[in-house]
Amino acid sequence: MGEASKVSAAVWSDPQFAQAWLAADPQGPQDLLALPRRIAAAVVAEETPAPRLVVDVAAGAGAFLSVLLDAFPQAHGVWLDASPAMGERARTELARFGDRVEFLAGDMTALRAAGVPDGADLVATSRATHHLDRAELHGFYREAAGLLAPGGWLVNLDHVGLDEVWDRRLRAARRRFVPPRPAATGHHHDRPLPTVRDHLDGYRVAGLPEAEVVWRAFHTCLFAARANEQPGRAD
Ligand SMILES: C[S@@+](CC[C@H](N)C(=O)[O-])C[C@H]1O[C@@H](n2cnc3c(N)ncnc32)[C@H](O)[C@@H]1O
Repeated sequence: MGEASKVSAAVWSDPQFAQAWLAADPQGPQDLLALPRRIAAAVVAEETPAPRLVVDVAAGAGAFLSVLLDAFPQAHGVWLDASPAMGERARTELARFGDRVEFLAGDMTALRAAGVPDGADLVATSRATHHLDRAELHGFYREAAGLLAPGGWLVNLDHVGLDEVWDRRLRAARRRFVPPRPAATGHHHDRPLPTVRDHLDGYRVAGLPEAEVVWRAFHTCLFAARANEQPGRAD
């Protein structure tokens, strides 16, 4: 497990921080990510209308997983996160799915060790991999891609790093839609966030060079790629 991943797991495992962050997470019309979550499900559904196994990595309270389980009523979901406080909240938020959801405590850079099964039709993650450094990010993509069933999808909705000018511009513009978070729920990033290029390189080294940015607003991108339907075939 890498250093950045460990630090992030520790920050999010503080129950006070996790609860304050959840309380300040935008809801309703201010939840700008409601649309890309649904777009992710729609993109997958076009070619994989009935995924059986959906994994949400660093799933938090389950915002992404619940959209995916609603979109795919036959799917079994795996929730994984390092934070017990998030686990507690997710068990409440996802209770309506009953035994369709399995809860795994673990690190996003050690998915197999946490018990994530092989053969996922969809591995999704949101707002989490920006905590990783480039090497850990690429390790995450490699391991997640290795868990996919033939034709499976790897989808990541995450914040990306920008140069100073665009960072300032887009932060300012975003404030017109969503108020800034209270200071207590902000978390320090001690390195620049991975860029779009870092993510697309990560998909490429993981054997998914067809990755595309399928939605973007401000700092947040939805990346998606589909594995070959015939394992072992070169892209
Ligand atoms: C910003 S929240 C996003 C939660 C959820 N994916 C969402 O979009 O609502 C980041 C999540 O990543 C989890 N996390 C942070 N570092 C982690 C790590 N190293 N391994 C697994 N989960 C981690 C946190 O516990 C938290 O639930």
